Amino acid sequence: MLKNDQLDQWDRENFFHPSTHLAEFARGEMASRIITGGTNCHIEDRDGNKMLDAFAGLYCVNVGYGRQDIADAIAVQAKELAYYHAYVGHGTEASITLAKMILDRAPDNMSKVYFGLSGSDANETNIKLIWYYNNILGRPEKKKIISRWRGYHGSGLMTGSLTGLELFHKKFDLPLAQVVHTEAPYYFRREDLNQSEEQFVAHCAAELEALIEREGADTIAAFIGEPVLGTGGIVPPPAGYWQAIQAVLRKHDILLVADEVVTGFGRLGTMFGTDHYGFEADLITIAKGLTSAYAPLSGSIVGDKMWKVLEQGTDENGPIGHGWTYSAHPIGAAAGVANLKLLDELNLISNAGEMGSYLNAAMRAALGDHAHVGEVRGEGMLCAVEFVKDRDSRTFFDAADKTGPQIAAALGAQGVIARAMPQGDILGFAPPFCLTRDEADEVVSKTAKAVKAVLG
Ligand SMILES: Cc1ncc(COP(=O)(O)O)c(C=O)c1O
Repeated sequence: MLKNDQLDQWDRENFFHPSTHLAEFARGEMASRIITGGTNCHIEDRDGNKMLDAFAGLYCVNVGYGRQDIADAIAVQAKELAYYHAYVGHGTEASITLAKMILDRAPDNMSKVYFGLSGSDANETNIKLIWYYNNILGRPEKKKIISRWRGYHGSGLMTGSLTGLELFHKKFDLPLAQVVHTEAPYYFRREDLNQSEEQFVAHCAAELEALIEREGADTIAAFIGEPVLGTGGIVPPPAGYWQAIQAVLRKHDILLVADEVVTGFGRLGTMFGTDHYGFEADLITIAKGLTSAYAPLSGSIVGDKMWKVLEQGTDENGPIGHGWTYSAHPIGAAAGVANLKLLDELNLISNAGEMGSYLNAAMRAALGDHAHVGEVRGEGMLCAVEFVKDRDSRTFFDAADKTGPQIAAALGAQGVIARAMPQGDILGFAPPFCLTRDEADEVVSKTAKAVKAVLG
């Protein structure tokens, strides 16, 4: 195919890229990267460069690129019936089948799935359902939502507020007043370096309880958290964290939303993070791994306890006033069905667990002792390397030095994509689940070279 030599110019003149330095891009100070294809763990750009994508897009292409089965399922659905809505009891074979497949895999206390398009809109749905629930129960004051600093839950008005990262609030007049933040379970960045992991967990639980008491438990509706902090730095929780948090929430009758947009459908080597860490949620948010991003689709899985009240609410008030034109879009649903089948057929979730442990161990062996590596951490097919100026005193580099982005760029120059996480000098890895041992070795050896090139 002939290349359109104006594409780069059109890109800069017309396309508003998300999460991008708009002025630098428009001035041509940043590369425009035009991706044209992908197979398994690799993508290719229009100049023919092949890259090992060790972040699976935005930790979403879990089954890997170029899966014919999913492409075929999408094509068949588009030909048969590209669209019909799901309002007033309508559905399609794909959306109904997918809801059943999700509930077959979800924790036992889950009851129904509402389908959206993105992780952000699924979390917006969750908050509306929580508010509705408390109104039906006659508790109109119980509405605030607790989120963690460094949590990531989307970039809408409410979900951007729940997100606990400065970049997503600054100049947007966020967070909204209904959201309050509590401490992140980030042991490496604890304030008191003398605290043991166990003491730190007790501290996080005590901070949460103190916040609830300050605000008044009768004003707090829910707590939202990712089983493993993702965009905030890829931080697995310290042992016992979720049990300690769940106990506080139960004591104060506060709902728990597990945001499993990253962890759902296998990234930790288990179906859900709630299974992995042994806690129980009232609502579970799913997106990315539901379709491996072959089509946009998300979901809010609603637990029994809330579902009963939602039914009561519609008996009292009429149909639920919530829905999108594209809720349960048949093409997304067909992609989801094919994706979940592929995960099973190729045993990809257990590969994510095994190869993820291998990747983490190899990364730790290669970089754990480096003078500027503060921590190598991870769980399942998630891994992060956090850089520090000085290990002994645990001092961090100045953000203006852009140490993390420089290392990511040095790695990119060798053909491996990792993500410089947005807050701190943290290099994140979240490869597709089909990663091979050779590819894991390549990621690790090239990362070590990139670290050496930037930090010595
Ligand atoms: C845990 C979590 N929740 C929600 C979202 C938002 O999803 P989306 O970007 O599809 O709106 C993300 C996106 O990265 C996420 O990581």
